[in-house]
Amino acid sequence: MDSQSIATAAYIVAALLFIFSLAGLSKHETSRQGVVYGIAGMAIALVATFVVVADIGDSTAIILLLVAVAIGGAIGLWRARVVEMTGMPELIALLHSFVGLAAVLVGWNGYLEDNHLTGSLEDIHNAEVFIGVFIGAVTFTGSIVANLKLSARISSAPLVLPGKNVINLGALAAFFGLTVWFVITPNLGLLIAVTVVALLLGWHLVASIGGGDMPVVVSMLNSYSGWAAAASGFLLNNDALIVTGALVGSSGAYLSYIMCQAMNRSFISVIAGGFGIEASGDDDTDYGEHREISAEDTAELLKNASSVIITPGYGMAVAQAQYPVADLVKRLRERGVEVRFGIHPVAGRLPGHMNVLLAEAKVPYDIVLEMDEINDDFSSTSVVLVIGANDTVNPAAAEDPGSPIAGMPVLHVWEATDVVVFKRSMATGYAGVQNPLFFRDNSQMLFGDAKDKVEEIIRAL
Ligand code: TAP
Repeated sequence: MDSQSIATAAYIVAALLFIFSLAGLSKHETSRQGVVYGIAGMAIALVATFVVVADIGDSTAIILLLVAVAIGGAIGLWRARVVEMTGMPELIALLHSFVGLAAVLVGWNGYLEDNHLTGSLEDIHNAEVFIGVFIGAVTFTGSIVANLKLSARISSAPLVLPGKNVINLGALAAFFGLTVWFVITPNLGLLIAVTVVALLLGWHLVASIGGGDMPVVVSMLNSYSGWAAAASGFLLNNDALIVTGALVGSSGAYLSYIMCQAMNRSFISVIAGGFGIEASGDDDTDYGEHREISAEDTAELLKNASSVIITPGYGMAVAQAQYPVADLVKRLRERGVEVRFGIHPVAGRLPGHMNVLLAEAKVPYDIVLEMDEINDDFSSTSVVLVIGANDTVNPAAAEDPGSPIAGMPVLHVWEATDVVVFKRSMATGYAGVQNPLFFRDNSQMLFGDAKDKVEEIIRAL
């Protein structure tokens, strides 16, 4: 058997392992297994690629491959070890930009190298070059803007250029026109033109999306990066890349669809880009007075409660409060209090953020419920602890049609008998919208770092 056939067989096995990996990752209980399948698939794909290159016998190519794997592996290991959970979304956005850039480089290489193709095969090849460069460049600049927005290095407010939809549609039309032209008469000028158009389009698409809608953007870029990889796979004739790219592309698109539903946004408007919510910082509504509560009084409230729901948010991740929270839950359950978690689909800063933190702290899976599973139970609950959540528990989304987050489904925490909100100040959450929950008669604010406050409650218990 020649090395190419061995590689093809290995790529099919790797692709199957990636499918098992996705299946495993879709449930808490099997997620570790899913990660192992993914690592195994990637290792097999890397070894197979090495076998193919080694068989060609070009020592420069082998050295380049080894150096690239060593550099990439070292950077990957280092980043994975130092990244904070709260910094994951921007890291993921940056990684997507690499996939985009790789697709652009593969596309350019596809044009510059001598491919000996003629007739319709050459036309198909040229179309692949253009599609790969286009998707790659949109992903590249789009992901860089997402990274800058998520890390707060540029404002998360949406860029509103006049006629932004016309700009987006114009860029798409230009891409189709240039593709046809390039297939008929391939030349470098057209390739440069499509690269520039796509770079600008990627930048504009993400820049014009408001901060509150970034979760959808991150999963959308995840999908784009998959399609960019698949386009590279066609150019390089690499089955593993085509299958993996398609898996990432379609699972990213499906995740975006789920996120859109969670945030009550239309899928089409996200794909088209250019929608977004303007956070109104200058809200002068008089919400009344808020009340404060101490950790000791919160402990007292919990002692007398029969049922408790905890709704964690981004602040729990910042404070790294998941471990004391898990401890608190254990103690309350030992006292016979029914404790459950209500998880909003976009709580935190990345899909599944809260689930990961709670799993890390060994909170039993069966008491961690999704928003839809628990939303009807708040009205029969004694105490809700809102730990570092804000936008995801904002009643304005459900009750005020004029609110910038109107229509976004939220956890109905205010329906419980008592609500205790853990945060450090009266500051707004990610969307920059004031939260009337803090001023409700049954709400009390527990100010301070969430981890410190939960530890104080445990001591008081
Ligand atoms: P947010 O609305 O972001 O609010 C988090 C709250 O935590 C803040 O109000 C903050 O108030 C508090 N906080 C921060 N550090 C704290 C600490 N050390 N101790 C105690 N409290 C602390 O949180 P959320 O309810 O989870 O909503 C998530 C938001 O992020 C949504 O708007 C969502 O659209 C957006 N988003 C989500 C994702 C994904 S995929 N999940 C990705 C990007 C954006 P203080 O400053 O007063 O303490």
